[in-house]
Amino acid sequence: MGLTFRHLQPRFAAEVSPIDLRRVIDRGTLDEIRAAMDEFAVLVFRDQPLTDDEQLAFAQRFDGTLHTKTGASVVKRNRFGNEALTDVSNVDERGEILKTDDRRRMYSLGNRLWHTDASFQDPPGRYSTLSARIVPAVAADTEFADMRAAYDALDAETRQRLEGLRAHHSIVHSRKVLGFEFSGEEEEKLPGAIHPVVRTNPRTRRRSLYLASHASRIVDWPVPEGRLLLRDLIEHATQPQFVYRHSWRVGDLVIWDNLATMHRGRPFDDAGHRRELRRVTTLDIDFSPA
Ligand SMILES: [Fe+2]
Repeated sequence: MGLTFRHLQPRFAAEVSPIDLRRVIDRGTLDEIRAAMDEFAVLVFRDQPLTDDEQLAFAQRFDGTLHTKTGASVVKRNRFGNEALTDVSNVDERGEILKTDDRRRMYSLGNRLWHTDASFQDPPGRYSTLSARIVPAVAADTEFADMRAAYDALDAETRQRLEGLRAHHSIVHSRKVLGFEFSGEEEEKLPGAIHPVVRTNPRTRRRSLYLASHASRIVDWPVPEGRLLLRDLIEHATQPQFVYRHSWRVGDLVIWDNLATMHRGRPFDDAGHRRELRRVTTLDIDFSPA
């Protein structure tokens, strides 16, 4: 189809030339976008007036299996009645802004820590699509960090040290860090998952750090020692030269590769401004389109 990509940051992230994703059904164009995901890790599509169903359908034809076992599904009812459609917003079922002490808001505030979607699952999240429906007049940005560039910038000794390491990821951990409390029953439903600290993209063979606020410990290491390593790596990987900051416009659809990036929401006055986005994430499962 001949898409063009404009770099938004020297290392990664690109804005894609105009295209209507609702009408992209041919494998050739979908494959072109997938190849661009391997190169840029974050793609910004402007002016995508997607309905919830159109966003779900696009994610499915783009990458197959949708992630439904979210942490949020354990702590709150999904207002869309579909666990594949994650509500990234600060409003309740009636569209009212959540009170500052609302438990759903407390839970969502965890998204302001650097993380990657669904790393507390196995298989983990692969691509996330985030669609901006209502955007406040004030800045309410999302930052992305390129975990491939961060891996490339490590010294040889650190790379050697990371060889073969695995981390346990748990959304209970990342929420507890901020003081959010789960009931025993909720915790039981969220056991977490173990993943390698360094991943290799099977198509490009490029390596990346796989980190998140969800990473609670390094397997077989003393807990404090593992947490210190994870903190050091996250600090390294989120230096300004590895980060792209996205300022949302209504109609933006941003797709990112959770296996090659981390992201976080930036603070804004969420008691005074409505912000509504919808996220659909796919799972890292072999995908062979029909
Ligand atoms: Fe996220």
